[in-house]
Amino acid sequence: IPVDPFDYVVFGGTGDLAERKLLPALYHRQIEGQFSEPTRIIGASRAALTHEEYRTFATDALREHLKQGEFNEAEVAKFTARLYYVSVDAKSDQGWDDLKKILEEGKDRIRAFYLAVGPAIFGDISEKIRDNKLITKNTRIVVEKPIGRDLATATELNDTIGKVFREEQIFRIDHYLGKETVQNLMALRFANALYEPLWNSAHIDHVQITVSESVGLENRAGYYDKAGALRDMVQNHILQLVCFVAMEAPTSMDAEAVRDEKLKVLRALKPITAANVEQVTVRGQYRAGASAGGPVKGYLEELEGGVSNTETFVAIKAEVSNWRWAGVPFYIRTGKRMAGRMSEIVITFKQIPHSIFDHSAGRISANQLMIRLQPNEGVKQSLMIKDPGPGGMRLRNVSLDMSFAEAFAVRNADAYERLLLDVVRNNQTLFVRRDEVEAAWQWIDPILKAWETTGQQVQGYTAGTWGPSQSIALIERDGRTWNDTI
Ligand code: BG6
Repeated sequence: IPVDPFDYVVFGGTGDLAERKLLPALYHRQIEGQFSEPTRIIGASRAALTHEEYRTFATDALREHLKQGEFNEAEVAKFTARLYYVSVDAKSDQGWDDLKKILEEGKDRIRAFYLAVGPAIFGDISEKIRDNKLITKNTRIVVEKPIGRDLATATELNDTIGKVFREEQIFRIDHYLGKETVQNLMALRFANALYEPLWNSAHIDHVQITVSESVGLENRAGYYDKAGALRDMVQNHILQLVCFVAMEAPTSMDAEAVRDEKLKVLRALKPITAANVEQVTVRGQYRAGASAGGPVKGYLEELEGGVSNTETFVAIKAEVSNWRWAGVPFYIRTGKRMAGRMSEIVITFKQIPHSIFDHSAGRISANQLMIRLQPNEGVKQSLMIKDPGPGGMRLRNVSLDMSFAEAFAVRNADAYERLLLDVVRNNQTLFVRRDEVEAAWQWIDPILKAWETTGQQVQGYTAGTWGPSQSIALIERDGRTWNDTI
């Protein structure tokens, strides 16, 4: 269903995010027939470009970042015809009159401001938007991570934006929430009678969440070396996945209902402090090795300074201390330059209480539900069956395996496509509320602090592997193993 006409203003319109993600995502939504006319996309940044030059920039971006066969001359022409550009400066009055004039034409349309810029200027831009009276009753603002680097800075940032916009107007993007499989977690859990009765500590042995990346620093040393894997991936994406796995059934898909339940999970995370940080967390940093088909440098060689105790890998044994999950470990890990690009959630059920089969039947494995985010999105449920044939009772572990690509002949849409239009639809269900961000930091801060007080060092791991051996020990100590199949 098409959405109502809108004006999307993208601050940082010539930046990396706009080029790689936002423009291609909006282009796809146009192809899918979701725009009503007149709909405009207005790039804004400091660079001095004409509308025409911005259209050329966008055309080049689409040519480079769309997949083969997706670049269609006529569609692209239609798309670039809706593009405009203004050169504005967040810190001075330069350009704001031009933006005002352009927006005046669409004053009754839905209006969204996307801040694809560093958080240091979120406040300046918000104030300029307010001072130039650009906020209509249909206006929203979209912000990207990082929302702070600890609780104090996150609160400050939220306050700054909150002075200008009401919470209902603020859309905090976590692009993991736009991934098909994340939404599918809700479908699996709450649209089936099968899983929910088993979804608790009586029947689940443990949960694993892995977000493994093959890429390294990707020219982001300046940001990454100050952040590290815990801030970059766990505080946001991975904790959001934990929320969707662990939350109680919300009363509806309504944004507040869903976010209330997620918040409770975040607040139930068992604190990690200096007393136990060394037992339940592992920090790693990649060394030279081979990744993505060739030799790669180590982290320190990629850095200009060459000295750093920043983790590019982290593994944590977390716990959600509430009635449903008490005693069920959530093992989470993420890292750069790991064995491959793979993100998945694995739910391992408990072993059967008693076996009626003798040794010759073979080992009985616990059932596992695997929810694969990437690559090859899909859901897999392992089951024990009898090996076919007359050879006696031999058991075998097989998978009911549903690959979305094979099951449905649909294009795998990028996470941003859904989220960008949810902003227009005014649906905040898949966006992060202020109290969630702050509750997440409330759990992360003590870990950062504990690393500092205990002086916990990063452990080296060879690029192209599953991380330091201490990460394997973290789970094997408990008699469990990481699921390492790609
Ligand atoms: C970003 C992180 O939020 O997510 C990056 O800053 C990371 O470091 C990226 O590479 C991973 O996203 P995806 O969609 O490729 O899994």
